[in-house]
Amino acid sequence: MRAIVLVGGQGTRLQPLTLRTLKQLVPVLNRPLLEHLLLHLRDHGVPRVTLAMTRHSEAVQHVFGDGSALGMALDYVYEETPLGSGGAVAMAAAGWDEPFLVSNGDVLTDLDITDFIATHERRGALLSIALHEVEDPSPFGVVVLDGDDRITRFVEKPPRESAPSRLINAGTWLFDPAVVRELDSSAFNRVEDGLFPTLAASGQGIFGYRRDGGFWLDVGNPESYGRANRELLEGALPRSLPDDWPASSLAVSGARVAAEARLTAPVMLGAGTVVGAGTELTGPLVTGSRCTIGASARVARSILWDDVTVKEDATVVDTVLASGSLVEAGAVVEGAIVGHGAIIEAGAHVPAGSRIDPGARWPATRHG
Ligand code: GTP
Repeated sequence: MRAIVLVGGQGTRLQPLTLRTLKQLVPVLNRPLLEHLLLHLRDHGVPRVTLAMTRHSEAVQHVFGDGSALGMALDYVYEETPLGSGGAVAMAAAGWDEPFLVSNGDVLTDLDITDFIATHERRGALLSIALHEVEDPSPFGVVVLDGDDRITRFVEKPPRESAPSRLINAGTWLFDPAVVRELDSSAFNRVEDGLFPTLAASGQGIFGYRRDGGFWLDVGNPESYGRANRELLEGALPRSLPDDWPASSLAVSGARVAAEARLTAPVMLGAGTVVGAGTELTGPLVTGSRCTIGASARVARSILWDDVTVKEDATVVDTVLASGSLVEAGAVVEGAIVGHGAIIEAGAHVPAGSRIDPGARWPATRHG
């Protein structure tokens, strides 16, 4: 079976991290977000994937190339202007005559794709949608099922109180090729707004695929990005941990850690990271390559990308520091998202919820 992965979005909700790094390439456990999904597809016998791209997402092709490094075959189809999920599928699957999978490119899941395909075939479905049960379905597309798990209704982003169920569209779909004829490849259209509700209302073979529990997260905003790193580091998707992940959950072998540093698992330090004396590192914590954490700094439950510097006596808690950012001595950063190359000045206190743009200084330099 072939798959299409949609990677042509803008990633606006994940700003400022996506101002300089494409959403599909933001690091999760020091690997591009999309790599986790591609390997999951490969491991379920889907080694051939078409990436539905826009010009905005060209960096994906530079990183993954023909896919051979992952043991897969990747090809790329470009939309000149974004076509939305419907237009993208219509364009990428033009001429295909076998059923195929489609996935959003920002999903992390342990969905049993093999069983998903088998269930689709057993039901003779035109379209199957993987579902996930959530506490609060209001940010998602919610489905209503009949007793045979046929989808009878779609409601996009209902208010929490009036949501008709807690089962949401989890962003992985199985298409019969006949359905592609219903889609327009020449204009922007979203299957969530058009095809899915139309098929459901017409009583055709559109089925939900339910499962008990399991892990699912769409990495759409800074909150879910932080969760993705923390929960994967805690073992939510065991196959996403590196092959040599130690039983102690302290992966520090490529780093230089002062003997007097105190580490509380799980901690993953990238190659060339240097940790000074008296430092306290509390997991779940990831650092990228070549980070420097100065003496007596405290870093907890955070994600540091490559080439980040946290100077002595600084405190970084529940924070994302993008590549090349700098937290100067004694500064305190809690619950913030710090863009590429931004500088937090010595002694500054960054309040929770702050979003700092790439290259900015905190506090902002005053003129005049
Ligand atoms: P936001 O701007 O924050 O909403 O993010 P996004 O642009 O990624 O949108 P969304 O999360 O709804 O997209 C879900 C998936 O579809 C992501 O993997 C996107 O990259 C992808 N996607 C969104 N719009 C398009 C499009 O027009 N064309 C293609 N090929 N992919 C798209």
